[in-house]
Amino acid sequence: MKVILLMAQTLDGKIARSDHDFPDWTEKADKKLFFELTKKIGVIIMGSKTYDTIGKPLPGRKNIILTRDSSRKSDHQDLFFTSDSPADILQKLEQEGHREAILAGGQQINTLFARENLIDEIVVTISPVIFGEGMGMFGEGIGLHLALKSVEKLGENSLVAHYNVLKNS
Ligand SMILES: NC(=O)c1ccc[n+]([C@@H]2O[C@H](COP(=O)([O-])OP(=O)(O)OC[C@H]3O[C@@H](n4cnc5c(N)ncnc54)[C@H](OP(=O)(O)O)[C@@H]3O)[C@@H](O)[C@H]2O)c1
Repeated sequence: MKVILLMAQTLDGKIARSDHDFPDWTEKADKKLFFELTKKIGVIIMGSKTYDTIGKPLPGRKNIILTRDSSRKSDHQDLFFTSDSPADILQKLEQEGHREAILAGGQQINTLFARENLIDEIVVTISPVIFGEGMGMFGEGIGLHLALKSVEKLGENSLVAHYNVLKNS
């Protein structure tokens, strides 16, 4: 099972100003990239805070939302709330025949997957903004080594970089 972390960042490495921010500071081309990649892969995993900034499941994709709140129930066929571990989530997806999943934040859930060494690739858009404050892609204690696969200009003023996570470092 391949897990691809798909994130947008500011030039100073922030994914949000606060935990309830909607990322409305990215270019249209980044939103298109997000739509196309998540549609192609078909499975998106995110934390409940990120889900709440979106407010509804992304259509045409399996939406898996991590929460410890057992009162959260889905009213949609593509929306699943779970408190399963990342490894269990991925195992179930594999049993269903999925080979890849997009991990879409936020910081807490990225950290959870990184701690278990379950992130295979990172696709990150660098947007032409600087916040000077805010949240990073991971919480404290995460250290990863990466290999750059590709980098290209995106839209007018952004760039997108694609990394492999080196598992043995
Ligand atoms: N720039 C980007 O590309 C990007 C992408 C994604 C998100 N973001 C931003 O990131 C911010 C949210 O990030 P965040 O780190 O605060 O929150 P998050 O990772 O989206 O969600 C955190 C929530 O996940 C649940 N959770 C955490 N650990 C868990 C575990 N072990 N098992 C089950 N559930 C668990 C908890 O939900 P409950 O409280 O419901 O139990 C927790 O409150 C937002 O501002 C969002 O816009 C930015």
